[in-house]
Formats: sequence, C-alpha cells, structure tokens
Amino acid sequence: MRAGTANSAALELTGVTKRFGGLVAVDDVSLTVRPGERHILIGPNGAGKTTLFNCITGTFWPSSGQIRFFDVDVSRLAERDRARLGIGRTFQISNVLVELTVSENLILAVLGRDRRKWMMHKPFADLGAVADSVGTALATVRLDHRLNDPVASLSYGERKQLDLALALAMEPRALFLDEPCAGLAPSERQRVSQIIGELPDDITVVMIEHDMDIALRLAERVTVLHQGQVIFEGSPDEVETDTQVREVYFGSG
Ligand SMILES: Nc1ncnc2c1ncn2[C@@H]1O[C@H](COP(=O)(O)OP(=O)(O)O)[C@@H](O)[C@H]1O
Ligand SMILES: [Mg+2]
Repeated sequence: MRAGTANSAALELTGVTKRFGGLVAVDDVSLTVRPGERHILIGPNGAGKTTLFNCITGTFWPSSGQIRFFDVDVSRLAERDRARLGIGRTFQISNVLVELTVSENLILAVLGRDRRKWMMHKPFADLGAVADSVGTALATVRLDHRLNDPVASLSYGERKQLDLALALAMEPRALFLDEPCAGLAPSERQRVSQIIGELPDDITVVMIEHDMDIALRLAERVTVLHQGQVIFEGSPDEVETDTQVREVYFGSG
C-alpha cells in the first residue's frame, strides 16, 4: 500500500506493549483511529495513557508491537522523524522563550521545522511564508491580539493556547494532546476546549482528557485504558453505559 491512501487509517496500533522493568505500563494495546477523527483516551491515574502517547510520538520505543501512521511503520523511528511525518504534540512550557514575543516564538518554531529547506533552497524573501504559517496558527488558537506581547505577560490559559499554536505551526496531520485543559480555570478550560473542538477537520485529534464533560463533548470515539489495557472502545454514548467502565472508572453504582 502507498503511504497516506484515502482508506488508510491515520493511526493503527497493534499489540503495543511498554515495560518499565517489571512494570507493564502499556499492555498489548490495539487501536485504530481514522483520518480526521476526534478520539479521546480516558482512564484512571497510572492507566498508561501518557506512556502510550510517548510510544506513539517517539519519546521512547514500545517494548513490542507496531505503530503505523498513515500506513508507515513508525514504531522504531526517532521523535523528530515522526514529527516530520506529521505526528504533532503540544510542547512543554519550558520550550518557550518567555522574554520573546508570541510571534517570535512561533517564527523560531517554523524556522526550526523548515531549517534544512530554508538554508538550502530558500532566500530570506520567502519569510512571507513563515508569517503566513504563524498568522494561521495564531488565528486558530485565538491569540492574534497577543502577537507582539512577550510570552511572560500571557496568562496560564493563553500559554496553553500558545502551546497549541506551536504544535499547529509544525503542520501536523495528527495532534496528540495530553490533558490540554489540566490546571486551567473554568473559563480558560471552556476556551481551550472550544478551540480544540474547532481545529481544522483534516487534522486528526487524539486527546487524553480527565474532565468527562469536555471529553464526551469533543469525542467521536472513546478508548478507556485501565492498568495498561484497553477495556472499552466505542462511542461517547456507549461509554457511559458500559458496565466494566462504570466499575473501574466511574466507580460502580
Ligand atoms: N519513564 C518511566 N519510568 C518508569 N515508570 C514509568 C515511566 N513513565 C510512566 N511510568 C509508570 O507507568 C505507569 C503508567 O503511567 P502513565 O502512563 O503516566 O499513566 P497515566 O498517564 O494514565 O496517568 C505508572 O505506573 C507510572 O508510574
Ligand atoms: Mg498522564
């Protein structure tokens, strides 16, 4: 099969397992996400959600199993090579230079993305293309009005929006968001979840979310992880009535 054919899955996990010494953090996970899907991953603390994301984005390799991204086996690729193929994730706050402005940080991210291309082939005149990438990312996360403000002046919620813009500036085909609303005040939570809900349809979104209201509102498909294993995969409606999910996640009754 050719890479990225119309009927290929965005993401296909087959028997993905990650061991830390004797601990099996991710245990034989198989999962398919179709292109453009909004897929939410939930589960109790320590269920292995972040570890599964780390296996997908390339922080480390799975101990066994296969990860295919638009028909390409990425299981043993380095993180930067997966990013180049379109596997996006939000950055840690520590990657942002707080004394620089919002747009300066985004320009650096875009130049980093295109570094080789810029140095080898592109004259400085093409900086207009960089400005376009930056402008689009900022508009999508509703931070255009903060363009020239130093990152240090942003609220915590606005920094989360900038995190999203940085990820978008890498032009991902899929975005992996690990609890993007964690630590936010209710109004910020509302704004960030709305922004995520309005991301372009052609970007596949896989998101770990603790807040059930947000998770079930955004989700088209839900996967529930428990002790490293998938115990449920289905629609948001089904997840609320599934007996096993109620027992391990919501607490029985
Ligand atoms: N780098 C690591 N080294 C050792 N153990 C880890 C590491 N990362 C996660 N774990 C362990 O793997 C299990 C799953 O953790 P994690 O994936 O963070 O769960 P979740 O994100 O669902 O809360 C936990 O028991 C955690 O302590
Ligand atoms: Mg986690």
